Amino acid sequence: MNEFLGVAIEIAREAGAVLRDGFFRPKKISYKGEVDLVTESDRRSEELVVARLQKRFPDHGIVAEEGGGAAAGAKYCWHVDPLDGTTNFAHGYPCFAVSIGLVEDGKPLVGVVFNPIADELFTAARGEGAFLNGNRIRVSPVEKLAQSLVATGFPTHLRKKSSNMEYYWQFTLRTHGVRRDGSASLDLCSVACGRFDAYWEFGLSSWDTAAGVLLVEEAGGTVSDLAGQPYRLGGPSLISSNGRIHRELQQVAVGVAEHVAKHE
Ligand code: 2AM
Ligand code: CA
Repeated sequence: MNEFLGVAIEIAREAGAVLRDGFFRPKKISYKGEVDLVTESDRRSEELVVARLQKRFPDHGIVAEEGGGAAAGAKYCWHVDPLDGTTNFAHGYPCFAVSIGLVEDGKPLVGVVFNPIADELFTAARGEGAFLNGNRIRVSPVEKLAQSLVATGFPTHLRKKSSNMEYYWQFTLRTHGVRRDGSASLDLCSVACGRFDAYWEFGLSSWDTAAGVLLVEEAGGTVSDLAGQPYRLGGPSLISSNGRIHRELQQVAVGVAEHVAKHE
């Protein structure tokens, strides 16, 4: 197996055990912003992942959500969300994961997302396919937006100025439904394994998406920005799908964007 993938899996499992342990104990919550939560478990998981990666790959860069790691000038860079779905975690809603992606020049090479409560380990390496607990996964066969189940999210720091409610409304009218699960990395994995047919969101960071984007691509899906251009890690918009409904998804999204721009 790809050495990088093997190490990422080992570390994700270890960090997942830290998260699972914290989930079943009383939680200490602090605030990064008005509703931007952080718990002791975000920090513990991040310390573990960063320390393990630094030990195994001392010349690699690391970008981690809670500020650990250093990335300057490295060819390989790990993008780490030690706890994706912190709000869920803090409220006892068991939908969260640790997300670890390895990126070379902006291109994801390895992605691992682990949900320790469901015990679901999503893994991918570029060119080698996407897997859930070791079994190959593929995006859904759904051909039409009207027959799809889609998902989105609302990052906490954007909630006052986000126009995503307009998109939410328009996609609700055009699909079987829109889910809002609160963990970007797991949403992307749900597209990769065909539970969702599409997922879009604005304002995500590289640590939310580095692993999940590779999962979707390796499962045969498509990831772009709202305009249909290649998705750039940390870019302002992300739309992902099984590929078959991508054009329809994008057309609706562009229509909403135009409507929003006109009424701003
Ligand atoms: P988090 O739980 O790690 O904060 C919500 O749909 C998604 O947005 C979650 O994946 C959440 O990740 C992410 N999110 C929340 N606040 C964010 C921020 N300030 N920057 C980027 N992503 C954020
Ligand atoms: Ca996080």
